[in-house]
Amino acid sequence: MIDNYKGFGLAKTIAVVCAQFGDTGKGKMVDVFAEQADIIVRGTGGDNAGHTIKTDDAEYIFHLIPSGICYDGAGKINIIGNGTVIYPKTLCDELELLGQKKMSYEHLFIALNAHLILPQHIVLDRLKECQAGQTKIGTTGKGIGPTYVDHVNRCGLIMNDLLNKDTFVKKFRHNLSAKQAIFQQYPAEVIEKIMHHEHLENGCYYHGQDVFNEEAIIAKYMAYGKVLSDMISDADAYVRISVSKKNILLEGAQGLLLSIDYGTYPYVTSSDPSVYGLAKGSGLSVSEIDLTFGIIKGFYMTRVGRGPFPTEMGGQQSDEWCNDNPQARAEENILLDMSVNHHEEFYQGMAIRQVGNEYGATTGRPRRIGWLDLVLLRHALKYLPSKNLILTKLDVLNDCEIIKICDYYSYNGRPIRLGKSYLPTGSMISNLAIIPAEILEHCRPNYKTFPGWQEDLNSCQSFADLPTKLKDILDYITDNTGANHRIISIGPKREQTIFI
Ligand code: IMP
Repeated sequence: MIDNYKGFGLAKTIAVVCAQFGDTGKGKMVDVFAEQADIIVRGTGGDNAGHTIKTDDAEYIFHLIPSGICYDGAGKINIIGNGTVIYPKTLCDELELLGQKKMSYEHLFIALNAHLILPQHIVLDRLKECQAGQTKIGTTGKGIGPTYVDHVNRCGLIMNDLLNKDTFVKKFRHNLSAKQAIFQQYPAEVIEKIMHHEHLENGCYYHGQDVFNEEAIIAKYMAYGKVLSDMISDADAYVRISVSKKNILLEGAQGLLLSIDYGTYPYVTSSDPSVYGLAKGSGLSVSEIDLTFGIIKGFYMTRVGRGPFPTEMGGQQSDEWCNDNPQARAEENILLDMSVNHHEEFYQGMAIRQVGNEYGATTGRPRRIGWLDLVLLRHALKYLPSKNLILTKLDVLNDCEIIKICDYYSYNGRPIRLGKSYLPTGSMISNLAIIPAEILEHCRPNYKTFPGWQEDLNSCQSFADLPTKLKDILDYITDNTGANHRIISIGPKREQTIFI
């Protein structure tokens, strides 16, 4: 039998999504699969995502362009699907960068029905966050939420509108006028500062009291439309006619725990990064996906921005350090002697952050670090049809003397009803139907501890070569969640990948 994807039999359409809070190293795994794919599709999110693309001689961080773009020269098709939200400036900047690096993008297509991020969305996102106080989400400030809101609110613009000036102008003015009253409620100087951000073209959209210079926005967007016009197409139709004929790789963004539908609401993004959201946003239904993979870090987790994180090392101290201290990264660089075995978890987390280089690719923020949480993993697996796991970054914990895995929580909040059942104070939780912030915030982790393997994994070429202590942890995860470990990544390079 000839495998369509190495080791995975006849599967033609596969999906790779993150089963945690994002940043699990999808880029590398998509790259590994992209070699055998004909079509690579991104179907959710926007430039809030960030993935690192490595070529032989360099590394680039992209936010919108699918990770398969390195294979454009080999004729592979890359698609930014209907479920994404697109800020044309970011996309055009990325195309320019590809051009400078002499990387081709001849086979890149953009779904004509993907929604368009407008300057007013970015301003709204940032204003809301500035004023939110305790309810701040810690968004990336890229206008993602307000754009999805307009989609659902039936006043959004789509990529195809960039090709039709009259339609664009009419819809754009309508969209903006409905928001003007909101902008008038905010202090003028706050808006002025936001409008001068580089991401908003350094103030070229700013018009003093009227806030937005409509003509400048229309002119810029029409110019972007010209650059993108050959790429904007009926991508849904292309994916539909290709399914079961070509090898299609669906590339997730963010992670299940940030899903608007299944995540730690309201501390989530505004799209659904599960395989269900990814399939829909790529023009398919989930039943057309032959194989799904969920990626987790082995055996830790990270989270960027606000929101509950029961296993966070250093708890609230870490949350505040990562979210409220703009100097955190610089200050951490000075503390080079942190040990991954530090007796204080706050510093242990900091050390793991340094070893794993856990700083946001989009915002540069330090990622909060916590132990692997099986309650959240069990939840994520409910939305992963084939329960196949890919574990990445195992090498980060090579020096750890003790590895802790959270098996269940103790609930110390007020008694709460959950549908027909009841969650009393003091209950032990190993599974949750939903994971809203108001419950997770009152969950304390209970850990099972394992001795660390404390050796370099570089010489491991197969599952059999992995240290027994590491395999014991893998077995424990399988026994307690039902997950199948299929791939283990022990370093950033392609060859540091073990197929099981
Ligand atoms: P938004 O997607 O910019 O609205 O941000 C909502 C939440 O999702 C914030 O907590 C962000 O930090 C988080 N988030 C969005 N994109 C990513 C990502 O690619 N990796 C990790 N966290 C993300």
